Amino acid sequence: MYSARYEYDGRNGHHERIDFLTSKEKASSKRKTGIVIGVLLALLILAAVVAFLIWLFVFKDADSGATLSKQLRPSIQVFSGHMKLVGVPYDKKLEDTNSKEFEDLARNLEAILGENYKKDPFLANYYTRSVVTAFSEGVIAYYWSQFDIPVEDLEVVPEFSEERVLETLENGIKEQRGITSRRDIKISEVTASFTDPRMARNPRATECFYRLVAEENAKKFSSPGYPTGYPAKSRCQWQIRASRGKAISVSFPFFHIEDDCSDDFVSIYDSLSPDDSQAITEKCGQRPPSNPLQVLSSGNIMLINLITDSDVQRPGFEAEYKAIPMSQVKTCGGFLSKKEGVFTSPLHPSFYPPSMDCKWTIKVPDGNKVRVTFTMFRMKEPGVDIRVCHKDYVEVMGTKYCGEMSSLALTSDKNVLEVSFHSDEAFTDKGFSAEYSAYDPANPCPNKFACASGICIAKELHCDGWNDCGDMSDEIKCQCEKDQFGCDNHLCKPRLWVCDRVNDCGDWSDEKQCSCEENEWRCGDGVCMPQDVVCDNKRDCVDGSDEASCKTSVGICSDFSFRCKNKECVNKVNAECDRVNDCSDNSDEAGCDCGTRPYKLNRIVGGQNAELGEWPWQVSLHFVTSGHVCGASIISERWLLSAAHCFATSNPANHVASNWQTYSGMQDQYKQDGVQRRPLKRIISHPDYNQMTFDYDIALLELDGPLQFTNIIQPICLPSSSHVFPAGMSCWVTGWGALREGGQKAQLLQKASVKIINDTVCNVVTEGQVTSRMLCSGFLAGGVDACQGDSGGPLVCFEESGKWFQAGIVSWGEGCARRNKPGVYSRITKLRDWIKKETGI
Ligand code: ARG
Repeated sequence: MYSARYEYDGRNGHHERIDFLTSKEKASSKRKTGIVIGVLLALLILAAVVAFLIWLFVFKDADSGATLSKQLRPSIQVFSGHMKLVGVPYDKKLEDTNSKEFEDLARNLEAILGENYKKDPFLANYYTRSVVTAFSEGVIAYYWSQFDIPVEDLEVVPEFSEERVLETLENGIKEQRGITSRRDIKISEVTASFTDPRMARNPRATECFYRLVAEENAKKFSSPGYPTGYPAKSRCQWQIRASRGKAISVSFPFFHIEDDCSDDFVSIYDSLSPDDSQAITEKCGQRPPSNPLQVLSSGNIMLINLITDSDVQRPGFEAEYKAIPMSQVKTCGGFLSKKEGVFTSPLHPSFYPPSMDCKWTIKVPDGNKVRVTFTMFRMKEPGVDIRVCHKDYVEVMGTKYCGEMSSLALTSDKNVLEVSFHSDEAFTDKGFSAEYSAYDPANPCPNKFACASGICIAKELHCDGWNDCGDMSDEIKCQCEKDQFGCDNHLCKPRLWVCDRVNDCGDWSDEKQCSCEENEWRCGDGVCMPQDVVCDNKRDCVDGSDEASCKTSVGICSDFSFRCKNKECVNKVNAECDRVNDCSDNSDEAGCDCGTRPYKLNRIVGGQNAELGEWPWQVSLHFVTSGHVCGASIISERWLLSAAHCFATSNPANHVASNWQTYSGMQDQYKQDGVQRRPLKRIISHPDYNQMTFDYDIALLELDGPLQFTNIIQPICLPSSSHVFPAGMSCWVTGWGALREGGQKAQLLQKASVKIINDTVCNVVTEGQVTSRMLCSGFLAGGVDACQGDSGGPLVCFEESGKWFQAGIVSWGEGCARRNKPGVYSRITKLRDWIKKETGI
């Protein structure tokens, strides 16, 4: 509808409306206008008086400075760097900030810096002071300079740049040549970079400022208040030196800083200035013992800062520092001539030092070629385009690699392969670990399929629809079988996957000819329905996809709505614990202390061993003398979730709670550190559990005493009954179950990434054995699955909101990891109400 009238919701919420008047209306409107203006004026005056009185009595005393200047703050710009001095002999006493030598030289340099800034009228205007913080051999002086910009000049802040400061200082250096050695000091080189003002410390300060000397024997230091907790607003600095020819290694056996790096963090420099261009790394959060932070300097100095601003107290860190011979750090690379072996970035898994270059030459017997597989690769740096890798990189056959990679395997074209490693002066990382081996190009993969990259995969994975090589070479030039669909890009995929709403081909060709008629809605299983079934609060599609995301039906309740505590309904997919208050009583965001893992983890690629703290809700259930039997998950301090078939067996002893022990916080079946053992008080198996069909395969376990949540013991989030885990979603299953069908149970907790499988496909491949209380997850291609001993353990999925939710309980499967035989899990969403009824959770 077109109308010459618009309604405008103004800034202050008043509605402004323009009406077009007829000529008659216009004539009479003049008189009316006079009256209206009078009334308006009177109202305005009244409003002003009221406002003044309110201000006077309510706000004035409480907030007397509530003016503009309170909101805007003066800006502080700090630059730091170093200067190389000539004509100054190095004196050890310069290392002591209390010495006269330090004082004299520092004051002189501070004066020179000040004079140089005075030459740029803009900088001179805001310049406050410079502080020389340290000297090292060379002679290198470390400094920072501060500029204060008052509130009224805040618009000039963008004009402060590293270039400007550097140019000013460099001009100063040039001019000093004319004046010849005033104060007998000459500066031959200078650097300057933007610096967080919180790191500008005065070396004469006594509070939380330390000068340490690293020696061969490791020594320790820790953050203030460790391990009880560091105070807020800490500004700590440790200057570490070692003797000439030595490098410094610092490791943090314990590290727990607040998780938000903008508040609290530790930053480490390969310099004595907090100069960004020489930062080694900046870290916050919590690190498990399996992923300690360990850094190395490239020279004999290092600076460590701790900045804390949040009020949340965390224990802080403990650090060990020592000097190591430079030769140990700087010797890397070499000649590798065995048939196979391992090589790593310098001092891996410690962070490699800055400014390094290494080269490995791998030579295998004539006629053979070299295969290199990186089992861990992490060279991440802020602001680096991983296609260019202009900073730190590994170079193989003319290609540079950087960033984080989960699988990198390369092969040579002759019997020699060179691998180079380069790190520049700033930001280092864990580097890499690589395995190499010789292979015969005529038979690169005996009894296996050879990918174009040279790696070998099981023969059965060739042309199975999955990109197992990583470069697709196992899936091209395939002759599609009868039960396979030929994608437009020549891949073959199981016919079952056509029209399942998952882009299996990669080019969507398996999903292209699936559309229904216009005015029709296609259900998740491909069935076409009239369009008006969508969001009509009735489930028309078998999978409920027609009702799954109905934003419009505000307040209307259906099976697919999230039900708030106050009975209100929210029609939004996965509304619970998504950090948005959807219910008016906020009940969708209550009870959301779950599904997070406190530890920052070191993702080791390739391996399927879980790390300590990676799956903090995983529990191991031991049956009297048989050790680990089943898995379970933590859903509260007192309740675990598991599978009914672990207990409701033909052996009555299995039903008895006192025959079971539970172990939380466990990773290694033989280690008890941090593990909490709790006996069971009660086992509640679902009353409808069916031993024949495994329907309702769920049990609740009440603990005899509550768990104490720790870094490695945490509850998982339970999804609401309306939660959707769509087909194709990648989730994780964990457990100590058999490593292969008929195999032995694992000693270390294992993890596997599996995909949620479409219900129709699930039903077909299980020959109709799945009920609506079950879901399939895994890979139809086989190869990844849960297995005997994983039962009762959780299938968990990571949601965008940043939390892990449990989608399933390991229940059954035909064998393990067989083709077209995915794992079957109890479907939590369907059993959610029963859990609530029994536990109140
Ligand atoms: N029922 C098995 C157990 O007791 C778990 C089976 C899971 N099998 C599978 N292929 N996903 O541990």
